[in-house]
Amino acid sequence: MIAGKIVRLVSAVLDDRQRVYDWCFHSETTKSHAGPPDYPNVVIPSYDEFYSEYAEYFFTGATPCDGQGYIIQHDGEAAGFISYTCFHLLPGKAEFDLWMNSETNCGRGFGSDAIMALAIHVRNTLGIGEVIMRPSAKNARAIAAYKKAGFEESDLLPGEYLRAEYIALYGDGDYGVGGTALLRLRMTPVTNSAPPTSSPVSSMIR
Ligand SMILES: CC(C)(COP(=O)(O)OP(=O)(O)OC[C@H]1O[C@@H](n2cnc3c(N)ncnc32)[C@H](O)[C@@H]1OP(=O)(O)O)[C@@H](O)C(=O)NCCC(=O)NCCS
Repeated sequence: MIAGKIVRLVSAVLDDRQRVYDWCFHSETTKSHAGPPDYPNVVIPSYDEFYSEYAEYFFTGATPCDGQGYIIQHDGEAAGFISYTCFHLLPGKAEFDLWMNSETNCGRGFGSDAIMALAIHVRNTLGIGEVIMRPSAKNARAIAAYKKAGFEESDLLPGEYLRAEYIALYGDGDYGVGGTALLRLRMTPVTNSAPPTSSPVSSMIR
């Protein structure tokens, strides 16, 4: 369990997969990032299509160096999902994705708190020094939440964060070149001589 200031991140398990998929693609928050009317070109995937990308290890914790998923909880109730992914990125980097399960759970600080808590976790456990997020450039609420968590808009090129073999597949982002915003959080990585801390993200930003 990872503790934020107002939310807790609980490792997701295989039984969470259906609800995590539904929250993303068949809930009242879906319209903010996929499907018509605002995202007609972002196709809603089937459950099987979604999980051909979101591998089982996100829900078992089997390969934490590749990625892992967490249920965002508030007051013991599930409020959303957040994950980090590293397998496609250059060493020392991670990408976060997250979505809430209802509009009621948006705009209450849960998203930015979950991001900050996960950033500290991957920094301390995996030596991550840089986190990227790539929402739609139209998703003003997501961009505001990520900036609140310490991220800055960046003009990094795909070759500066993706492993060479993944540039063709992931370089354009989910919303295409021009439609995808790139936000970056830089942190001072933990070195062997510096023990992990739970310092606030603000004090770790380079
Ligand atoms: C994006 C998301 C994860 C952010 O989490 P959250 O818990 O809502 O974010 P927070 O409450 O921490 O911060 C949201 C900020 O956006 C601001 N905001 C809300 N609506 C906004 C809008 N239309 N334009 C600009 N900013 C907006 C809020 O005021 C808040 O900032 P503040 O606390 O400084 O006032 C969540 O809103 C969500 O799941 N949305 C639907 C799915 C989605 O878009 N996922 C992201 C895919 S990349």
